[in-house]
Amino acid sequence: MPSVSIRNLTVAYNKGRTLALDNFNLDVEDGEFCVFLGPSGCGKTTALLCIAGLLVPTTGSIKIGDQVVISEDKKTFVAPQERNIAMVFQEYALYPSMTVRGNMSFALENKKYSKEEIERKVNSIASMLGIEQLLDRKPAQLSGGQRQRVALGRALVRDPSLFLLDEPLGNLDAKLREQVRFELKRIQRRLGVTTIYVTHDQTEAMTLADRIVLMRDGKVVQEGSPKDLYHKPINTFVAGFVGTPRINFLTCDVSVKEGRPYFAFGQSALPGSQALAVTLNGKSCVVGIRPSDFMLVDTTEPEAIKGKVEVVEPLGDEIVVHFTAEDQLLVGKFSAADEEKVNERIAVKVDPDKLHIFDAETGDRIDG
Ligand SMILES: Nc1ncnc2c1ncn2[C@@H]1O[C@H](COP(=O)(O)OP(=O)(O)OP(=O)(O)O)[C@@H](O)[C@H]1O
Ligand SMILES: [Mg+2]
Repeated sequence: MPSVSIRNLTVAYNKGRTLALDNFNLDVEDGEFCVFLGPSGCGKTTALLCIAGLLVPTTGSIKIGDQVVISEDKKTFVAPQERNIAMVFQEYALYPSMTVRGNMSFALENKKYSKEEIERKVNSIASMLGIEQLLDRKPAQLSGGQRQRVALGRALVRDPSLFLLDEPLGNLDAKLREQVRFELKRIQRRLGVTTIYVTHDQTEAMTLADRIVLMRDGKVVQEGSPKDLYHKPINTFVAGFVGTPRINFLTCDVSVKEGRPYFAFGQSALPGSQALAVTLNGKSCVVGIRPSDFMLVDTTEPEAIKGKVEVVEPLGDEIVVHFTAEDQLLVGKFSAADEEKVNERIAVKVDPDKLHIFDAETGDRIDG
């Protein structure tokens, strides 16, 4: 049974001129960690607010578990406080005059939980989040990352059936983001609570999600596991949004020689997969190459792309190499062990099956 079902959700502003959500459909499974990913303004927060009941959509219906929380005809509307949802915003606010314990207990006291029960729940979540030694402090005495964890803890103690998080790690530094991200994922796994997490950061989406819902202009462009989106992006937008460093795009004309397609750019040509020869003959395509799919080869190797190295970025066990080939700036990612092969000039090849081929006009994926 899906935990959240959203059908034909549309939110229109400015008398219908702005569609913040445009016929949005989605099923989130029970216990799933679902991430809404997309550029600023694509409708992520709007979708979350509708699920929480803080915004009434123009049209559409939402079901949480068995319960219809808003029906198509709007005759059914379940108030936010009756949806058993916990929501954490980027601009979370803790009660400044209360201790961490007070902040975390507040909602449970309102629900008339017993003292022992509150203590047990608060202590258990606090220890999962690594803030148990901070329980008697006030928010002003905490670092940003600690405050963020308290905000998450305050939401988690309530045992929500659905956890909605809107860019909750936005104001943390890179190291803390990574740490809180890991804790969040671990706790979500342990509690098994269905979670919808909003971010525009693809790394966050890739590392956290069971499923990513990639959005643009109020619509779902592609949904699937992080692997699906990375390995089988349905168009150039998805390919460009997911993966770091960013995928390389080359616009190429295709010619077929001895049953094999070649993607020509400048004086170079990349051999493609034979399966695509018939489909692609004479067409113009965009070829996507993930930086890690470039293989370093000897500069004398036939059919290799030759490039001039511009910048090498060391990343510890890997290196990122920016190079120009046929006047195009490309980026490759290689093992640091291969660094000695990277001189002023490099030559690279790509396994034909690893190329992502898109229609040059529509940007849609062409599969063999
Ligand atoms: N109250 C409003 N009135 C008019 N337009 C609005 C309103 N709220 C949101 N919008 C518009 O709806 C669209 C979606 O907004 P939303 O806040 O859902 O985007 P988002 O994906 O969360 O972006 P971000 O990553 O910047 O938070 C945007 O174009 C926004 O300008
Ligand atoms: Mg937003």
